[in-house]
Amino acid sequence: MSGISVAFGGVAALSDVSLTVEPGQVHGLIGPNGAGKTTLFNVACGLVRPSAGRITWRGEELRRLKPSQLSTLGIARTLQGVGLFGGLSVLENVMVGAHRHARAGFVSALLALPTADKDDKVLRERAHQALVELGAESYADRYPGSLPYPVQKRVALARALVADPDLLLLDEPASGLAEDEMHELGELIRALSSRMSVLLVEHHMDLVMKVCDRITVLDSGEQIAAGTPAEVQADPKVTEAYLGDEVVETDAAELARTDGGRHV
Ligand SMILES: Nc1ncnc2c1ncn2[C@@H]1O[C@H](COP(=O)(O)OP(=O)(O)OP(=O)(O)O)[C@@H](O)[C@H]1O
Ligand SMILES: [Mg+2]
Repeated sequence: MSGISVAFGGVAALSDVSLTVEPGQVHGLIGPNGAGKTTLFNVACGLVRPSAGRITWRGEELRRLKPSQLSTLGIARTLQGVGLFGGLSVLENVMVGAHRHARAGFVSALLALPTADKDDKVLRERAHQALVELGAESYADRYPGSLPYPVQKRVALARALVADPDLLLLDEPASGLAEDEMHELGELIRALSSRMSVLLVEHHMDLVMKVCDRITVLDSGEQIAAGTPAEVQADPKVTEAYLGDEVVETDAAELARTDGGRHV
């Protein structure tokens, strides 16, 4: 993505941001709340159309990118939150992600041609494998709503992986995860990078620093730093951007504490 700008109702959410995910690399996208991370992520998914800038994938410019094109392009994503279909079982949810590899298509499925049956079997098998890879195969027949949040997140990841993408886009995959689950996620993302490139939007700094090859830092819609984890960590602009966040949090905590002392 190069020179990407986005405005929502006249307010600039992104100004002239550029970011390249190299083959086989994990690229982190970080920044304080409201920095524009999800907006840039949504531009990469075709959910938000930039007012300026270019998106290039494998040397070709993608004009008017639509989310429905992603799977054919070899791109898969998980969104902030979970976004599973409540009315489908876990296995069926993952099968939805595998349709890039289905040969039958709707027509033969509708006509109940023999290939559709075979493809359904293949899809099921692929989806099952993806669930195994994420250690979620025991939930295959359950419905997402009945499962703990971390399991739902794993299912969402399985749904993205089952398409065997060349680029995986992840928006806050670690949110709501406990320490050990986060560690496992880190190992998984590292392992995935031998098969695909990853764009990782994430708040958890230790995870980002551990798994990313390169990091882009946004603050108030502007790109304030980019480089290796070590370079980014050593950048005073980055510390400053995050300090602002922490100061606010500390103030809030302090306020709550003194307030509590006063009124209780
Ligand atoms: N659909 C929208 N309409 C209007 N403003 C929006 C919209 N989406 C995002 N914004 C604004 O754009 C800015 C960037 O938001 P964005 O969600 O991209 O930030 P973020 O870095 O993902 O934040 P977070 O860490 O909270 O997820 C914010 O000021 C936000 O309020
Ligand atoms: Mg976000």
